[in-house]
Amino acid sequence: MDTILAGRTVVLGISGGIAAYKAAELVRLLVRAGAGVHCIMTAAAREFIGPLTLQTLTKNPVATSLFDLWDEQEIGHISLAERADLCIIAPATANCIGKITLGIADDMLATVAMATRAPMLIAPAMNVNMWNSPAVQENIRILRGRGVHIIDPESGELACGTEGTGRLADITAIFERAAALLQVQDYRGVKALVTAGPTREFLDPARFLSNPSSGKMGYCLARALQWRGADVTLVSGPVALQPPRGVRHIAVTSARDMEAAVKEHAGQARLIIKSAAVADYRPREQLRQKQKKQGGALTLELERNPDILADLGARKGDRVLVGFAAETENMLKHAQDKLRAKKLDMIIANDVSSPGAGFACDTNQVCILTPGAEPEHLPCMSKDLLAHAILDRIQRLLS
Ligand code: PMT
Repeated sequence: MDTILAGRTVVLGISGGIAAYKAAELVRLLVRAGAGVHCIMTAAAREFIGPLTLQTLTKNPVATSLFDLWDEQEIGHISLAERADLCIIAPATANCIGKITLGIADDMLATVAMATRAPMLIAPAMNVNMWNSPAVQENIRILRGRGVHIIDPESGELACGTEGTGRLADITAIFERAAALLQVQDYRGVKALVTAGPTREFLDPARFLSNPSSGKMGYCLARALQWRGADVTLVSGPVALQPPRGVRHIAVTSARDMEAAVKEHAGQARLIIKSAAVADYRPREQLRQKQKKQGGALTLELERNPDILADLGARKGDRVLVGFAAETENMLKHAQDKLRAKKLDMIIANDVSSPGAGFACDTNQVCILTPGAEPEHLPCMSKDLLAHAILDRIQRLLS
């Protein structure tokens, strides 16, 4: 995640409810992603969490009062409002939502919310009856109509002991929505198909051939595309990751399953990125019962799997086709050969034997090849950051 939000300024307003303590985790995610975060707390919020916690996490003073001379000199409500690339209010109480809707600027948070021209994301949290009340529902409807982004509360057990809708949305979901709002929407209107993870080729019900792909690279690409406005379908082999929010997720097991899913969705896609590590071979025979141990060696006969990417290249149309090359030697030569043979617009070569690159780690180091251009070597970086760097380059091909 590191530095995908570098250079972006987030103003985080915290109003007074038990969920206020969760704002610390949201701050942590935003800061870890590189955003500069300035917190504003209402007086009620300070009953639940101390400003020092947020100041320590953000390394910025926390604005608490409109009439505090020091706050005004150091932070200033107009300057905060103008500096923001995004204004988040989490948690937002019924009172805070009511004030913002009606334009009552009687504290620092409501004043900044009124003065800012930045996009606004509100995450309400309150008692279920308050959430369902006509007043709050009407205010939410008005705010949505003004273009304010609302991330609905979840249902479950509430702090007041009742059950129902009103719990602050999951902090990761709030973070991801915020991160998406902070991206340039340069993929809006683009239908993209991404493949990720390994395939499994079963010998019998208990054993399979596979590879160490964790799906991280492909999931980072799918998430980055979604954040940048694309309509994303993710075809994934078996992995231990949660599909990114807002992405159409299709789970597959074998190379032939992946081929079928890709064929079904490729027709609508303008962009296809194949980061999956597809098994080139499968056992010729798949036993219905578990293979029993025998004396001596066992010979396994394999047959070729379809090359999904090569088939797409053969019927390319006006799609932009991007492949990956997982290599352990002569990386550039092998990647060039695949770029040509599979008729790709781009191939991302990674040396999977190099530490911090390739399978299952959080970082990757790649070289990007496009027809007729010099290879571009990128430094080792997080897969999240790399996904955005790859998308920056694909964008030139799309336009
Ligand atoms: O998932 P992670 O743990 O994050 O690891 C990321 C990764 C190492 C899997 C990824 O960065 C990567 O290199 N993916 C491609 C792996 C691979 O199968 O490379 P290849 O050189 O064997 O295949 C070349 C291209 O053809 C790939 O785009 C592959 O998806 C595609 N292919 C390969 C074989 C096949 N039968 N069908 C295909 O479509």
